[in-house]
Amino acid sequence: MNNPTDFNQLANQPDRYHELSTPEKNHLSLYTKPEILDAELKRIFYTTWVYIGHDSEIPDAGDYKSTYIGKVPVLMSRDKDEKVHVVINRCMHRGLTVCPEEYGNSRYFVCPYHGWTYAHDGSLVETGAPEGYSEGEIDKASMGLMPAPRVDSYRGFVFASLSKTGRSLDEHLGRAKPHLDNYVDRSPLGTITSSKSGLYKYTYDGNWKIQLEGSVEGYHVAFTHQTFLQIAMKKNPDIIKHFKNPDLRGIDLGNGHNIIEVMRMPPELVRQVYPEPFRQQVAERVGEDVMYDILGTTKNLVIFPNLALLEHQIRVIRPLAVDKTLVETHHTLLDGAPDIVNQQRVRGHERFYGPAGFGGPDDIEMFNRMQEGYQAEMIEWVYFNRGLSVETTNEDGERIGKPDHETVQRATYYEWRKLMANAE
Ligand code: FES
Ligand SMILES: [Fe+2]
Repeated sequence: MNNPTDFNQLANQPDRYHELSTPEKNHLSLYTKPEILDAELKRIFYTTWVYIGHDSEIPDAGDYKSTYIGKVPVLMSRDKDEKVHVVINRCMHRGLTVCPEEYGNSRYFVCPYHGWTYAHDGSLVETGAPEGYSEGEIDKASMGLMPAPRVDSYRGFVFASLSKTGRSLDEHLGRAKPHLDNYVDRSPLGTITSSKSGLYKYTYDGNWKIQLEGSVEGYHVAFTHQTFLQIAMKKNPDIIKHFKNPDLRGIDLGNGHNIIEVMRMPPELVRQVYPEPFRQQVAERVGEDVMYDILGTTKNLVIFPNLALLEHQIRVIRPLAVDKTLVETHHTLLDGAPDIVNQQRVRGHERFYGPAGFGGPDDIEMFNRMQEGYQAEMIEWVYFNRGLSVETTNEDGERIGKPDHETVQRATYYEWRKLMANAE
């Protein structure tokens, strides 16, 4: 199998796609072959739990958000009893998406073609011009918008699965849960707001997994973001030096989830950066030690397959084509925190990730160029072996490396191989 031609042949065998990825490297076809994206949609996006949106995006009865699971259009909404629903945004009559708006509020979803009217839970309330149907021609009970088979949420993060069976959301999140808790527990109220006002979307001409890999990419920072680091070092040398803490880790959390610790500040610096009464408000909920830990440690967390949580940001990844990806970034606010803290978060987010930010546009340039390089089909491998030989495993079975190792990227592909091996 070391002959490169053999791998090209493997890329034509759908039941063996998972063999195109190894712990050290991925075959080029994972990023370039449309059939592999089709298989990823079926075996990953339409099987496992996918992040849909945040509670705070639909705070009131009647609110909705339209989004996608892979390429399947869905609607997340809140009914009059505050219950959250996720239904497939596809009219049961002739197939239109019933709701094109990204966000809105309405009592019903009304298809614009012939007026079929649906409730938030998907049930068909009425057809347009019902007198044209004879008795029994429409079985209302079976002609509602199809609900996602499973919907669940954790700390305000709403997920859905298009598969009726499989592990629960709780099992899926597994060891990522304490890190999600940490993210939300920075709020004095224990809840966050995923802002719609600052929603920034971008596309890049590259495969969706490039952004997943890139959301926990500690290796590139010193190179790609050199200018930013130099400026930041001049402005805040006391803070920036903590990016170099030798204890920082990259962790494979299992189920494809992973995290890098980007920076750890000692308590005296946390006191400098975060004013009172904020620290005390947080400490009242979680205790002083945890407060210093979660406010002092900056982390990037990937929840496989389509969500990343960065310091100030919720990032959602959606494949459009094998070489085109759409990314949504929402800045996040800590509910109950003093305005100054949230203002700092928004400014920090804009400074690095905004359209004119110091970091995000450079990352997008890297992603585009990666996919451009993949056009060199005679070179078949993309490598992820940095730090593999010194990786350790802790008592929880987590693989541990450094943040600039590729432990975290490898974590994604352990799950990728597992799900892709199911070729049914
Ligand atoms: S296609 Fe939706 S009502 Fe006819
Ligand atoms: Fe970057």
